[in-house]
Amino acid sequence: MNPTQHFSIRSAKGGYDHNFSYLVTCLETGEQCLIDPALPPETFDKYISSALTKIIITHTHGDHIAYLNAYQDMNPQPKIICHPLGKDKFQSFKIHPVQNEEKVTIGNLAFKILHTPGHYPDSICILLENILFTGDTLFVGRTGRVVSSGSNIQDLYHSVYDTILNLPQETIIYPGHDYGDKSTISLDENIKISPLLQAIDENDFISKMNTYEQNR
Ligand SMILES: [Fe+2]
Repeated sequence: MNPTQHFSIRSAKGGYDHNFSYLVTCLETGEQCLIDPALPPETFDKYISSALTKIIITHTHGDHIAYLNAYQDMNPQPKIICHPLGKDKFQSFKIHPVQNEEKVTIGNLAFKILHTPGHYPDSICILLENILFTGDTLFVGRTGRVVSSGSNIQDLYHSVYDTILNLPQETIIYPGHDYGDKSTISLDENIKISPLLQAIDENDFISKMNTYEQNR
């Protein structure tokens, strides 16, 4: 952690398939949020507290919300932040659906929500200063996949190329799974190592993506 920062990020890896959960703490107020309850609360041991007020869901695939019930047992109960397309999965919980470009505050921290459909319709990325939590939309070394029902290659192209890659190139991504040769990476470095981020246009991306999925 950089001592000059006013937030900390603790990541934990495990769950269904090298999933990441991230615990973000505002160091000025102590307030916390969790991004994706893919691992149980005990994973964060002494770092998690009753100041965990919000749980942000990058998308509603089962592995990313696997331990939601355990976090809902905490007191006070954290509020669930998700895209409106995913809200029906959380009917019995306290939820706050968020639209594209909506701001979410955790203590003195301001997160910006970006709707990034493609891997899944309710996928969002979460921007905190120069850090982007990308869920399954973008990993180290490649984009997310488009093989689940609800996936859409064109949507993924626009989410990745028009939304994410328009952010400052030094933005660091924190993905939903540990699929690369390191856990985080800057956008400009990721473009260099990822053929799926080197498409010249939408048709080229669709062709590259189809080839990638056929060869898996
Ligand atoms: Fe997913």
